[in-house]
Amino acid sequence: MSADTTLSLDTVPFKVTNPEHIPAQRYYDPEFFELEREKLWPHVWQMACRLEEIPEVGDYTQYTILDKSVILVRTKSGVKAFHNACRHRGVRLATGPGNCAKQGFVCPFHGWRWHIEGQNTFVFGKQVFSPDLLDKAEINLKPCRIDFWAGCAFINFDDDAPSLLDSLGPVAERMNARHADKLKMDWWYATVLPTNWKLAMEAFQEGYHTMKTHPQLHQLSALGNMYGPDADGLSINRGLSGKQTVNMHVDFLARLGSGMGGMVHDSEVAVLERLRDMDAPDDPMEATMAFYARANEEVTKDGLARGAPMFDISKVSAEVEFHAVEFMFPHYFLLPMLAAMSSYRIRPLTPETCLFEIWSLVLRPEDEEFETPREPIVLPYNSPDFPEIPRQDYSNLPLQQLGLHAGGFEYMRLSKETEGMISNYQRLIDGYIAGLDPETLAKASQAVNCGFEAPIRDIGF
Ligand code: FES
Ligand SMILES: [Fe+2]
Repeated sequence: MSADTTLSLDTVPFKVTNPEHIPAQRYYDPEFFELEREKLWPHVWQMACRLEEIPEVGDYTQYTILDKSVILVRTKSGVKAFHNACRHRGVRLATGPGNCAKQGFVCPFHGWRWHIEGQNTFVFGKQVFSPDLLDKAEINLKPCRIDFWAGCAFINFDDDAPSLLDSLGPVAERMNARHADKLKMDWWYATVLPTNWKLAMEAFQEGYHTMKTHPQLHQLSALGNMYGPDADGLSINRGLSGKQTVNMHVDFLARLGSGMGGMVHDSEVAVLERLRDMDAPDDPMEATMAFYARANEEVTKDGLARGAPMFDISKVSAEVEFHAVEFMFPHYFLLPMLAAMSSYRIRPLTPETCLFEIWSLVLRPEDEEFETPREPIVLPYNSPDFPEIPRQDYSNLPLQQLGLHAGGFEYMRLSKETEGMISNYQRLIDGYIAGLDPETLAKASQAVNCGFEAPIRDIGF
C-alpha cells in the first residue's frame, strides 16, 4: 500500500483496521453516515430500475438515493436519465412511476415543460426573464450518466467514474451466462427496516446463520454442513441412502422455493418433484452430483418446451463458477439457484433505517401475458405476507441494531472463512471515504463482487 493511500485511509473515522473486526459505530454514527452520503453514493453505479418497469415510450420512474433523485424515462432512442429538478426553481418533476408520452414533463409550479428527451419546450411568459437565463443548454433537463446491464438501468452521478462493467468485474459474465438480462419480475416487495443499510445487507452475505435462523433449511442439508455438529452435538443427515439423499435435495429446493416465494420457482419445483425416488449411488456426494445433473437437464428441457429464454443449466454449471448469492457493490444482489433468481436492493434512508426491496425473477416466455408491477408492494418488515425466509432474516435485524448500542460492544468479530464478503465491501467503503483514486476503487469493487461465503480477501489496499 502506498504511503499516500495509508495516509488517506487514516482520515476515515471508525475505519476497519483489522479485517476481522467491524467497528459498531459504522452502523449508527451520523458523521459516518454523512461521509457515505458525500463520498460513496455520488461515485458508484447504482441499480436504478428494472427496464421492464418502463416498457413503453414515455414510461418513467423515479430513483431516489438519500436526497438525490433521478428520472428514468423510456424514449424512442432508449432509456434516458435526468436529474429530477425543474430548471426554473428546482421543483421535483417526477414523483413516482407514470407515462409522459403525450405532454412530456410539466412542472407543477409555473408550468415549464420538457420533451421526454429532455429538451425544454415551453417557458411561460419568456419575455419577463433575461434572455441569457433561458439559454437552451441551460434549461434543458440535466442528463445523468446511465448504463445498462442484466435487464436494469444503472446510474452514476460521477462522470469520471470507471465504466459500469469495469466496476462490476467478472460477476457480470457469471450472471450473463445465466441469462440475467432476460429475467422478468414475478413479484416485487419492499419494506422499511429499523437498521442501518449495511446491517441489512450483511444478513444476506453469509450462510453461517442458516442453522439458527432458518432451521427448516438446515435440517434438509443432505450433505450435512461445513460447520460440524450444532449445539446439541448433532451432526445432521449422515448415513442416508442414495434415494434418501435425492429426496432430501428435492425437499430442500422445494422448501427454499416456498420460503423465498421464488428463487426456485414453482415451475422448477414441479419438475424436481418428478425426480423424487430417483435411483442414485449411496455415496452422498455422488448422489448429489447425479441428482443435480438430472435436475439441471430436466429444468432446462422444461423451460425450453415452455418457450422460456433458457440457458443450458448443466453446461453453465460445468463451465461457470456458481455462487448462491452474488453481490454487486454497493447495494444490489442476485441469488441464482436453477434458472430463476431472487434479487435485493438496499438503500439507506437515515443512519438507522433503510429500504429493502426483494424481487422474484423468472425466465418467462416472451409472449406470455403478465401484469408487471410498476411499484413494489410495501409491507411492514414483520408482515406475515413476506415469504418465510426473508421474514426470518428480518426478525434478527432490529435486535442487532439495538445490540450495537447496548454498551460494551466495540466491533463485530467476523469469520475470516465465511463472513469475508462483509469485511471486503466494508473496507471498500473506507476506500471511497478516503477518496482513493477511481481505478483502485474499481479494481477493489471487482474483488468485492466475488460471491457468497467468500473468505476475507485482499482488495488492493
Ligand atoms: S419551479 Fe418549475 S416552472 Fe417554476
Ligand atoms: Fe437468511
